[in-house]
Amino acid sequence: MNPVVLTTTDGGRLEFACAPGQSVLEAAAAAGATLPASCRQGTCGSCHASVTDGPYDLGPHSDQALPPDEREHGGVLLCRTYPCGPLSATLPYEQSRILYGGIPVREATVAALEPVARDTVRLELRLDDLDCQFDPGQFVELQLPGTEVKRAYSPANTGNWDGRLEFLIRLRKAGQFSSYLSDRARPGDRLTVHGPQGAFGLHETGLRPRWFVAGGTGLAPLLAMVRRMAEWQEPQPARLLLGVNDPQDVFAVPELNAVAAELPGFRYDVCVWRPDPGWSGPTGLPTDHFAAALPELAGAAPDVYVCGPPPLVDSVLRAALLGGVPPEQVHRERFLAT
Ligand SMILES: Cc1cc2nc3c(=O)[nH]c(=O)nc-3n(C[C@H](O)[C@H](O)[C@H](O)COP(=O)(O)OP(=O)(O)OC[C@H]3O[C@@H](n4cnc5c(N)ncnc54)[C@H](O)[C@@H]3O)c2cc1C
Ligand code: FES
Repeated sequence: MNPVVLTTTDGGRLEFACAPGQSVLEAAAAAGATLPASCRQGTCGSCHASVTDGPYDLGPHSDQALPPDEREHGGVLLCRTYPCGPLSATLPYEQSRILYGGIPVREATVAALEPVARDTVRLELRLDDLDCQFDPGQFVELQLPGTEVKRAYSPANTGNWDGRLEFLIRLRKAGQFSSYLSDRARPGDRLTVHGPQGAFGLHETGLRPRWFVAGGTGLAPLLAMVRRMAEWQEPQPARLLLGVNDPQDVFAVPELNAVAAELPGFRYDVCVWRPDPGWSGPTGLPTDHFAAALPELAGAAPDVYVCGPPPLVDSVLRAALLGGVPPEQVHRERFLAT
């Protein structure tokens, strides 16, 4: 057995033993601590951490979930990390994100399902259990009715006491959950919800500006964050950039306008990559607008929250680092297939 010590950002320590052939994620669960994770097979990136000391083997994983440069600097996926001796690692989240009673499993009813743009739908669920508390940025897994298939989705709303979960979901061609939503799902359907879980979320860092960059439905957890800021009337200046491919893909404008109306200091832009003559807003990639706007802050590096497809997340990270934002101020969630 190899001893493992994990440290959270708020100084919490988790110590347990890991058997040969057991991943750190499995050993933590065996010791009663469920760490943020989704696919458990090295493809989604949700169990990212950094090894600070000790030998380990890394099992098969996708380069998108753990880019080679992060791997070279001690980045690991805990579902694919097998200690070969005493191991210490840091977790990129606070102790509160570790579940000690296992992942909550609850039943819900489909309350609404509607298209909001080409290939994008809004799904609303009502949990039977009305206690619907979660931190903006977390995700739940929805189980495809009648199967064991689960997919991760990030609520776009904030925690509440009426059991309401709202999702913005991009429909993928021939995707299993996507096909259920486009072909069979109806209000009244029953779904099993696993969670909330996950490490992505707002960090309290005083009055530092917050910048949010979303690719497509990567907006969902960021919308939850700015909605929370509006509910709590948080004073940090906040700016959000949403990137979509075509004008037909634009969505969530009423929701963003509602936040802008309630939250002084919040502004947002939707950037269309392939505009048509009718589009009068910003064009191109949100990353380019982000990089161009960074100098406006005159050295006051913002906290950056980015979510969406891996290429967008990685390019925003590169632009942020080039623009002088310290890496620990760039918080990211990659929407990868689970
Ligand atoms: C933590 C987390 C949170 C997420 N939150 C959201 C969310 O709020 N909204 C949302 O729309 N999606 C979200 N996703 C992605 C989502 O979990 C599914 O991957 C996606 O909906 C496809 O599921 P599917 O069953 O329809 O497709 P699958 O049956 O899994 O796959 C069908 C095809 O689509 C491709 N594919 C699947 N997923 C992706 C992807 N993400 N990017 C590119 N190609 C893909 C597959 O390679 C395959 O070819 C999240 C993912 C993670 C890890
Ligand atoms: S849970 Fe480890 S990569 Fe998905």
